[in-house]
Amino acid sequence: MSSVVVTLKNTLDRQNLIITPPTSGLSLQGTINIPGDKSISHRALMLGAIAEGETIVEGLLLGEDPRSTASCFRAMGAEISELNTEKVVVKGVGLGNLLEPEDVLDAGNSGTTMRLMLGLLASHRERFFTVTGDNSLRSRPMSRVIKPLQQMGATIWGRKNNSIAPLAIRGQQLKPIHYHSPIASAQVKSCILLAGLMVEGKTTVTEPALSRDHSERMLQAFGAKLEIDPETNSVTIAGQPTLQGQKVIVPGDISSAAFWLVAGAIVPGSELLIKNVGVNPTRTGILEALEMMGANIELENQRIVAGEPVAELRVRHGKLKGCTIEGDIIPRLIDEVPILAVAATFAEGTTTIKDAAELRVKESDRLAAIASGLNRMGAKITELTDGLEITGGTQLTGAEVDSYTDHRIAMSLAIAALNAKNTTTIIGAEAAAISYPNFVPTLQLISG
Ligand code: S3P
Repeated sequence: MSSVVVTLKNTLDRQNLIITPPTSGLSLQGTINIPGDKSISHRALMLGAIAEGETIVEGLLLGEDPRSTASCFRAMGAEISELNTEKVVVKGVGLGNLLEPEDVLDAGNSGTTMRLMLGLLASHRERFFTVTGDNSLRSRPMSRVIKPLQQMGATIWGRKNNSIAPLAIRGQQLKPIHYHSPIASAQVKSCILLAGLMVEGKTTVTEPALSRDHSERMLQAFGAKLEIDPETNSVTIAGQPTLQGQKVIVPGDISSAAFWLVAGAIVPGSELLIKNVGVNPTRTGILEALEMMGANIELENQRIVAGEPVAELRVRHGKLKGCTIEGDIIPRLIDEVPILAVAATFAEGTTTIKDAAELRVKESDRLAAIASGLNRMGAKITELTDGLEITGGTQLTGAEVDSYTDHRIAMSLAIAALNAKNTTTIIGAEAAAISYPNFVPTLQLISG
């Protein structure tokens, strides 16, 4: 087997990932254990922190984002063991008992940390909180959670007319609302449900399409009472439950598996087995999209682990064809659009991705970032206001490309580099540690 040369080079405060595939004969082979699901990891730490007693989390993602969540909740009184093994113990403070932190809470790069936490902070009466994040997070829209929280009676101040961080929150007794969210966002839904925990009465969120439901599943496991109406995409939470610490087993992150699914699908002769992948139907849009493109992916050993569906995924190389990805599937593959753009670049025909304007306000403007990186390598991608149009079948050539300090852009470009001629340098590849600290060693493992 010819192998890929993968080198990491540190510059002052950034890391470059340099990838040179062999001129011929590369195939990817092996079994991959992916890191824990990022969304479930955040929720396990947060619910553990506000529940009574002990929560034991197995398989926690040891990435930068969950570390941000852990440090915020430690600052508010929860005891959370060191994040140096995947088994983490959380001793909760009990509902309503988060302490006023002495300093600013720093959510780092993590939108999930900031948006979900805001629901809890706004509802903690007589306590004052300030919240900030890194350059990216301080530019991301927070009004989508601040507005519904204000309707519940929250007091929140922030820059640009209370819409971006840093934010200041004076906790209040909130009142229940029925919120019709204009966007399908699990972060918005979860923020309101978490605020609803502290409210007397029932709080309902209705969303235009179903977003990931990890909060609903885990809140129920911890003892909250929820009513779910799949007809209208509505969730209702009854306030003031007793939340009891639980054992949470975090499945592998399908958003991290997606990189290997596409790598296996596009590199000739490849076969990869990805173990222990969370296949919650609100997250499997990527499998459906790749299937529409003709990818050869099998689900093996499907099972339920601690309330979440899990399977092994086997991918084999095969010919891909272009397709249209739009509508209700978008929230179920929202984080996978950059790596889908890579798959589309190697597919025959045109792939159109629409209804994905949300990508413009992620860790970077992901439509612009992935289009510019892949186009530098020779792809033919046109940006749409809410998506991408990708003409497949072009030969990529290595180039110097930028991660825009976005983990998913860094990893998507690394996968594209495997199928490109010559050397690709990804500037700012350290971003991968947000959700996938072992990405580079895994890449080395499967590429010989
Ligand atoms: C997440 C929800 C999604 C996703 C993000 C994680 C979550 O964001 O993009 O990576 O854990 O709830 P939105 O809810 O903003 O779509």
